[in-house]
Amino acid sequence: MEQLTVHAPSQTYDILIGRNIIEKLGNELFERHIAEPERPVAILTSPRIGGFYYDAVRLSLEKSGVLEVGRFNIPDGEDHKNLQQFDKALNWLSRFAANPSRTPLVITLGGGVVGDLGGFVAHTFKRGVPFLQVTTTLLGAVDCSVGGKVAANLPAGKNLVGAFHQPSLVLADMDCLNTLPDAEVKSGMAEVIKYGAILDKDLFEFLEANIDKLMDLDDEALAPVVRRCCELKALVVKQDEYDKKGVRISLNFGHTVGHAIENVCKYSLSHGECVSIGMVAAARLSHKLGFCHSSVPTRLQSLLEAAGLPVECCARNLETDQVLEVMKTDKKWIRGKNRFVLLTNLGAWKEAEGIDENTIEDIVYEVVEG
Ligand code: GLY
Repeated sequence: MEQLTVHAPSQTYDILIGRNIIEKLGNELFERHIAEPERPVAILTSPRIGGFYYDAVRLSLEKSGVLEVGRFNIPDGEDHKNLQQFDKALNWLSRFAANPSRTPLVITLGGGVVGDLGGFVAHTFKRGVPFLQVTTTLLGAVDCSVGGKVAANLPAGKNLVGAFHQPSLVLADMDCLNTLPDAEVKSGMAEVIKYGAILDKDLFEFLEANIDKLMDLDDEALAPVVRRCCELKALVVKQDEYDKKGVRISLNFGHTVGHAIENVCKYSLSHGECVSIGMVAAARLSHKLGFCHSSVPTRLQSLLEAAGLPVECCARNLETDQVLEVMKTDKKWIRGKNRFVLLTNLGAWKEAEGIDENTIEDIVYEVVEG
């Protein structure tokens, strides 16, 4: 088991990466004084992921001495990361943890939807209770579970309501990746590729050379990649926990167009698929504005294609105007001025604002309708 530490200004916590971690969960929590017998543990999970791992998590907690464990299911799928499910989860938690003298510990067991929404529940219940993320997906391991961004979607856009609430511990059990559907492996790989594209050229080149092994979840190739992505994210969060200092914004590479496509296609494409298309758009825009060599978008596109990810919306019948309209709700856009994370090279980025709207429209048209 490997251990990395996130030094977020508001809280320091560890990420544990390895195999068979779920079995050790209870002991880890007691050794770290996160759990205690009388503290109820509320596990927020999904029907599918809970079906695989809930019993093992509960057993591990009970063996270590936890007296009360409960489960709430958030239905699978990004379209359930909404305020209706948030409301249901909070009401369940208030019944489960009814004893006012016992603050519950929330565990989110699953991927991005459960982690984001469950973390938001932990942030708001009684003005904040501790939580930990047990992440079972590649996307969760490399992105959502680290850094404390918790959120729900609104009809107007993704993650439009949310907060920062750092977990007390993150566990990424690599064994769980074996039960991931291919589509989820691809979705996570889009975020992995993002880290290489913006922050680490060596990682990008490792991905280029090993993409087939990585897509087959070859442990020797994948474990160091997951670790590196967590390290990169921890570095970013240490410098700019609250996304106010112009550093954390880098992790939004590909997300301006990506989130808008996700909203307009009503989540029929996965987060990773939309980010893949969004990264292609942002890389082409970077080249068109003269910030990088043409090989940057070409290599990025080839790597995404090699991972089986889409580089345009193809026959989804989405309209460029709709995507452009939703992009205007992007949290990064200030006083109506567009802001993009763009590449200056592989592994290097810059922020640009006030880009000519026709240029943006042309690029969005290429990936949405072209
Ligand atoms: N997923 C982007 C961030 O954590 O800032």
